[in-house]
Amino acid sequence: MKKAVYRSYGPPEVIQIVDVLKPEPDMNEVLVRIEASSVTRADTMMRQGAPKYGRLFLGLFKPKNTALGTGFSGVIEAAGAGVSAFKIGDEVFGEKLFSNGCNAEFLCIAEDLVIGIKPNNITHMEAAPICDGFLTSYNFLKDIANVRQGQHLLINGASGSLGSAAVQLAKLMGAKVTGICSTKNVNFVKSIGADNVLDYTKVSMNTIEDKYDIIYDSVGTLSYKVVKRLISSNGLFMTPVLSAHILWHILWHPKKVKFAATGIKKTDELKRLFLELTDFFNRGKLHTNIDKTYTLSEIAEAHHYLETGRKVGNIAIINQ
Ligand SMILES: NC(=O)c1ccc[n+]([C@@H]2O[C@H](COP(=O)([O-])OP(=O)(O)OC[C@H]3O[C@@H](n4cnc5c(N)ncnc54)[C@H](OP(=O)(O)O)[C@@H]3O)[C@@H](O)[C@H]2O)c1
Repeated sequence: MKKAVYRSYGPPEVIQIVDVLKPEPDMNEVLVRIEASSVTRADTMMRQGAPKYGRLFLGLFKPKNTALGTGFSGVIEAAGAGVSAFKIGDEVFGEKLFSNGCNAEFLCIAEDLVIGIKPNNITHMEAAPICDGFLTSYNFLKDIANVRQGQHLLINGASGSLGSAAVQLAKLMGAKVTGICSTKNVNFVKSIGADNVLDYTKVSMNTIEDKYDIIYDSVGTLSYKVVKRLISSNGLFMTPVLSAHILWHILWHPKKVKFAATGIKKTDELKRLFLELTDFFNRGKLHTNIDKTYTLSEIAEAHHYLETGRKVGNIAIINQ
């Protein structure tokens, strides 16, 4: 089978498509024929070995795990003798977290990990990226902030993968949402449910007078120093993007400023959030926006596009 690998850190051109043996499922694993997979900012960072301190985990001089791709959607082709939750032919989706390997034709995954039945009302292309933007933002909105009815959220990067998921989730949780994006994405952010949209090319954060219960900086471009006056007295500033600036503010205001790496959350907690999200999708409450699709052999091009920082929602690799 074909599989994307990177054997050294570097630009998208380090990615190669290689032929490897089709994996065989263990007792508690299913073999999934992958129809679609995600390509995310986390994948590009792993490929670059960036930030450099990440190499302590990824491999000091070259990647220990050469496989790429965390999110998948496909069809179960075989199952180990101990598998009880799924059967051959089931359409499933999920995420392999740091073990990667979803940018390929097949993968094996244990049934108790982050895998579930794909909602019938969405395609494999729409299901594959759910564990990036939706799972990450749901962790922030539900487990970290516990967003409640009537709260007002300011979501920066509202047109990205995490941001567009957060806008929809916050509305579903009964909040009022103001999204921040550039001019070209204003209509998109309104279309996914934002009550107000601020165009960051026209509005300066210094001139805003409103107060927000939660500011979710999904792309890490806001300065906490600048926006802290906009946060209500019991409010929160949260971001999925770690920087020295954010670490410093977490140190001084641990109750007010939050960062989390969703991928290192306990698997059973991730699975709980994943199953709740699946239920929302089954009920037609959420929608994955796909900006562009690529084939597996075009994956380097997909990484280049991701690195522009301009994608709207998600991108997907479609297996032919
Ligand atoms: N901590 C975690 O667990 C975790 C998990 C997943 C991802 N992440 C991180 O989360 C971040 C966001 O990922 P993502 O996939 O959502 O990003 P993304 O989809 O690549 O973000 C692209 C979007 O950001 C917007 N944008 C760019 N500059 C902006 C600015 N100055 N202000 C407002 N919007 C701006 C762009 O819109 P315009 O073209 O309109 O500017 C574009 O639509 C990444 O750094 C990723 O590594 C963290």
